[in-house]
Amino acid sequence: MHGEHFLLFFIELTFRERGLTLMPTTNRHITQSLRSDATIIQDIPPSNTVIFRGDGEPKTPAMMLQRLAEFDQEFALEEDSYSLGGNVEQLEKKCAEMLGKEAAVFMPTGTLANHLAIRKLCGVKPRAIVQEQSHLYNDSGDCVTRLSNINLVPLAKGCPYFTLEALKAAVEQSETGRVINPVGAVMVESPVRRRSGKIMPFDEMKAVTDYCRDKQIGSHLDGARLYMMSGATGILPADYAALFDTVYVSLYKYFGAPFGAILAGTAEFTDGLYHDRRMFGGGLASANFAAALALQGIDGFEERFNRAMTRATALFDKINALEGINVEPFEHGSNIFPMALESDIDGKRFVKVLEAHSVSVSAPDGDRSRRIMLTINPTILRQDIQDLLYAFERAIEESLQ
Ligand SMILES: Cc1ncc(COP(=O)(O)O)c(C=O)c1O
Repeated sequence: MHGEHFLLFFIELTFRERGLTLMPTTNRHITQSLRSDATIIQDIPPSNTVIFRGDGEPKTPAMMLQRLAEFDQEFALEEDSYSLGGNVEQLEKKCAEMLGKEAAVFMPTGTLANHLAIRKLCGVKPRAIVQEQSHLYNDSGDCVTRLSNINLVPLAKGCPYFTLEALKAAVEQSETGRVINPVGAVMVESPVRRRSGKIMPFDEMKAVTDYCRDKQIGSHLDGARLYMMSGATGILPADYAALFDTVYVSLYKYFGAPFGAILAGTAEFTDGLYHDRRMFGGGLASANFAAALALQGIDGFEERFNRAMTRATALFDKINALEGINVEPFEHGSNIFPMALESDIDGKRFVKVLEAHSVSVSAPDGDRSRRIMLTINPTILRQDIQDLLYAFERAIEESLQ
């Protein structure tokens, strides 16, 4: 099915599910009717709810359909051929520019982006160093080892990042063992998903990547949440990306796409990479729907996220002046902040009262724990600081036991 017909089909299906019918019309007419009839799309959550979970604004199918229609209206959906051309190519160009790299390639998943980066960087040196806590080491079914015959060496067990010293020791061991087995690539994941979004400090990253360059070892950044790290440190995404040969950024965690990833590097690195993508079954047809939503979500994201972090910092200062509650950043943290409640506060009740004030937080870590992780995203901009502070004040007062 061609792109436009696919969209028509989707929209019609959604309408049918809601008992609505569509007159035969053109795509453009449909998008106009979507925009002009506010009653058509109903399952969007209340727009003033601040959600202290997730890196971006939550998505619903209806929101994505609406945004697609808006994108089509404003810029036009342009088909790709198995992820080549159209909106996909526009997205690749935009991301390459944003990340200060010569070129970028759309990938269906971050898992494949990391895999193909390491596979290509390693070349004839089939060993790569990663963090023991990384997504690639824990959550990808050992794809790099099983499908590309590259041995992953995990460093920094249980910790967010490894140091230059640990890296040097591992590389030297690889080069001086009884059977030489040189390291072809080093990957850094930052922020680290399994370690509450903690990051490798910029200076350590620089030391590590300078060393890799000296040793002619490829370096790759799993920057699924690169923009969270930048929002926390004030260091631009392109300045992080400049340290590494290649960088991957997620398109669905906070840019609003339903799935997808971008892998950026030199033109030489990305040249012909779509063959590898296809070989691994990742040359998706009609990827333009994901690309269009990402293009739309990227627009202004940095500015929105920076404002969100500023608002969170100001809010936490005020919350910390209250009795019984404390929010402190992690050392080397990004956008996740642990909030501790004193023992005379009923955690479950606290969450309920916040909910009644349109503030959504996760349940406390365990039944007896009074620690709640707050993840900052642009939904914090939906309420001003005074309203948010009032919600927390009420929640404390009404949950004292
Ligand atoms: C840090 C990190 N890297 C890679 C991935 C993989 O991304 P995808 O789900 O697009 O394969 C994830 C997904 O959760 C992640 O958190």
